[in-house]
Amino acid sequence: MISRIAVLASGGGSNLQALLDYLDSLGDDSPGEVVAVISDRPTAGALERARAHDIPACSIAKGADGAAELFRTLHDASVDLVVLAGYLRLVPPAVVHHYDGRLVNIHPALLPAFGGEGMYGLHVHQAVLDAGVRVTGATVHLVTEEYDRGSILAQWPVPVFPHDDAATLAARVLQVEHWLYPRVIHALAGRGEIVLDGAPPFSFTEPR
Ligand code: GAR
Repeated sequence: MISRIAVLASGGGSNLQALLDYLDSLGDDSPGEVVAVISDRPTAGALERARAHDIPACSIAKGADGAAELFRTLHDASVDLVVLAGYLRLVPPAVVHHYDGRLVNIHPALLPAFGGEGMYGLHVHQAVLDAGVRVTGATVHLVTEEYDRGSILAQWPVPVFPHDDAATLAARVLQVEHWLYPRVIHALAGRGEIVLDGAPPFSFTEPR
């Protein structure tokens, strides 16, 4: 069975793109297909990327109406798996409960550190730099009603270099996100186990 995947995104959608490219690369062996892209922002780049792939894309309103609309959109598209990819809103409780175990998020740090409300995008990387830690990374986890608190499914470390700023660190972590997230989604959609195929096909060395 091919899993029907919805991606929720607020931003540019590079993780959405990485997932689409990965599933495309599997051809007939792909365990899933992205059947809906939903945003809370009508101008999100992720919506453009979806439309370029002929995937139905829409933005939903804030508040109670938006929660009902989100639930209805997922239901109408017969979605099996919900993937948050840079989605900055709390997922409404009805959606969390209905998709329990089938709703995942990627966070650009090693949870449970540097997570929670307000920890998104460059804020996360700045907090990592401010704390002076030498290793950060990416975490894929199940989504609950609280930000970044669900069970961890996979993590991958990324070094922090002395001359990093939030942008250079974000770019390095994003490379790992693009490798890690599609593989975890592959596992959830079809394989039944998370296979990370060794290590990412790149390594990080400190710039001189
Ligand atoms: C990614 O780095 C993702 O991990 C992060 O937002 C970025 C979205 O980039 N998510 C969070 O910070 C959630 N707390 P993208 O739109 O290019 O995929």
